[in-house]
Amino acid sequence: MTTNSETISNPLGDDLQIGELLKRMTLAEKVSLLSGQDRWHTATLERHGIPSIVMTDGPHGVRANEDGRIKGRATSFPTGVSMASCWDLELVEEVGAALAEETRALGCNVLLGPCVNIVRHPLAGRNFESYSEDPYLAGRTGVVYVRGLQSRGIGASLKHFACNNQETERRRGDSQVDERTLREIYLAQFEMVVKEAQPWTVMCSYNRVNGEYSSQNDRLLNQILRAEWGFDGIVVSDWGANHTTIESVQGGLDLEMPGPARWYGDLLIEAIATWQIDEEAIDRAVRRILRLVRACTGQQQSESTDGILPEGAVNISAHQLLARRLAQESIVLLKNDGNILPLREEDNHSLAIIGPMAGVGSIGGGGSSFLEPPYRVSPLDGLKTRLGDRVAIHYEPGCSSSTYQRSPQNGIAQAVELAHQCEAALVFVGLPEGHESEGYDRQDMELTGAQNELVREVLKANPRTVVIVYAGSPVALPWVGEAPAILLAHYPGQEGGHAVADVLLGNVNPSGKLSVTWPKRLQDTPAYANFPGGRAVRYGEGIFVGYRYYDYKDIEPLFAFGHGLSYTQFTYTDLQLPTKAKIGDQVTVTLNITNSGNVTGKEIIQAYVRDVDSSLVRPVKELKGFAKVELAPGETKIVSISLNQRSFAFYDPQRGDWIVEPGIFELLIGSSSRDIRASAKIELTL
Ligand code: BGC
Repeated sequence: MTTNSETISNPLGDDLQIGELLKRMTLAEKVSLLSGQDRWHTATLERHGIPSIVMTDGPHGVRANEDGRIKGRATSFPTGVSMASCWDLELVEEVGAALAEETRALGCNVLLGPCVNIVRHPLAGRNFESYSEDPYLAGRTGVVYVRGLQSRGIGASLKHFACNNQETERRRGDSQVDERTLREIYLAQFEMVVKEAQPWTVMCSYNRVNGEYSSQNDRLLNQILRAEWGFDGIVVSDWGANHTTIESVQGGLDLEMPGPARWYGDLLIEAIATWQIDEEAIDRAVRRILRLVRACTGQQQSESTDGILPEGAVNISAHQLLARRLAQESIVLLKNDGNILPLREEDNHSLAIIGPMAGVGSIGGGGSSFLEPPYRVSPLDGLKTRLGDRVAIHYEPGCSSSTYQRSPQNGIAQAVELAHQCEAALVFVGLPEGHESEGYDRQDMELTGAQNELVREVLKANPRTVVIVYAGSPVALPWVGEAPAILLAHYPGQEGGHAVADVLLGNVNPSGKLSVTWPKRLQDTPAYANFPGGRAVRYGEGIFVGYRYYDYKDIEPLFAFGHGLSYTQFTYTDLQLPTKAKIGDQVTVTLNITNSGNVTGKEIIQAYVRDVDSSLVRPVKELKGFAKVELAPGETKIVSISLNQRSFAFYDPQRGDWIVEPGIFELLIGSSSRDIRASAKIELTL
């Protein structure tokens, strides 16, 4: 696929030229730019030399408009939840840049991502594509993803704005959210990305927010996104999310997708002809679209002449390595009793590789983000590559991950037999691809088919059993007490099998941490009473989403937000924090972190803020900073985390603003949200 920009010269030099061009355009030409020409292209205006731009999904691999089930050409990276679980911002930025190179090489201009919607409930279908239950972590991850992408001349589409937190009734559901919750939980990460990374486009969601469709939501699009946050890119509708003409133009929607025009086009011309919409409103939207065309095509031309454009940069070895690194960095070691992991070759002459995920391994969820890569490495392949003939590897799937296969007694018996015969067993279980998906939510947190039975039986047969879970959201682990070691792979992309083998065998020390709380039971979850709701979805838990809820209600999760083990240990000492600061001053926290074990490892240090005395109820603590550092055995590094005014603020709906109240705040520095290693107080004064 090629873009027209390669053949048409770019007349969109500067804003002045765009202004001149607007004067020469007919109304019909202008209006044609406000809807897609087809499913992925904006309109071409040959008379004016305006090329179309091409959009593509996204977010963790470039589909380039191919049917997701058809073998694509692009690299399949680990999905959004993995990007957030690595807590490594430089790495995510690199991934963004690689995605841009592939987008470019496949002839597209805008990659439809990142998805920064908050993970509100474990069953929501698109959790795997999203980052986190925490707006700060989601925001920071989104900022670097967008920077990486746009640094290579490819536009991002920050989605889905806003409150698209479930799939049930996603096209007409009404997310009913109070103002403070909206600002602190559901908009904060969008705000951070818009202000710090200036995405070229924002995609509005299908759903309504407080009664108004996002695609015609003046408050969200004009008042907050544009006027308050200074967004100057285009607002594009999610595919089919536009429902009207006048209200959408007035509400701030620039581009209706997909094309051809449904509510814009002729209906829009009619609305202008009958004086229901001012032509100036159209001009404003067209101007923004022309600026986007300029951003996409201008850079493309200059980069290709500079020779920077890496021709055919799809699925190149550098990107494969990057996909592997992201998977390595985002795998979370949930449990490791008796340090059964890493598996040492000298102790494991025979391994039983068991489970439906062993021979394939889910690499992504379903829906518009699904991408079938040119190849995929299964964990079985990954282990065989690493171990060669030095270890006898035996494989038995045991059961299928299909929901329909309930009791495959033969398979389980064979797996049990194998587990008996080998020194250790590795059981690979998880959700089949498409079980978590756009378009529907999960019905329960269970592993599908007979996988729990398989794990239980293997655990009985061999106490040296490690369970590896493939899932983009929390799943119930009814055998958690019996399993000595559990590794969470998420959906690790095409190189996942290598990365999982690297971690199991200790070539890589695991360093990912959960970006989402894993609950003990669905009944413990914050939105339990309000999910999925009907056409109205009441966000009744308010600001108490994720760990904010578990902390406040003092409910013990199965695995806490921020949790993730390592093959080494870290000690936290010498926390330094000024005892006083003026509201608005930057506050720097420093501490020493030492690797007190005997292998090199990485630790993610998390800084949470607690408002000791507040006029409004506040979460027990909120994540406001983090750092990931690598340390050799015995090495100590000084870690420094900066906090700004927003780190201490809450949104006051009465005053319509972010407020920091003078008083005492506590800084809690943890290895997870439930493993606080050091704390100190600071007084903020006027
Ligand atoms: C999804 C978007 C996607 C778009 C284009 C929609 O159904 O919600 O995330 O980018 O389709 O495929």
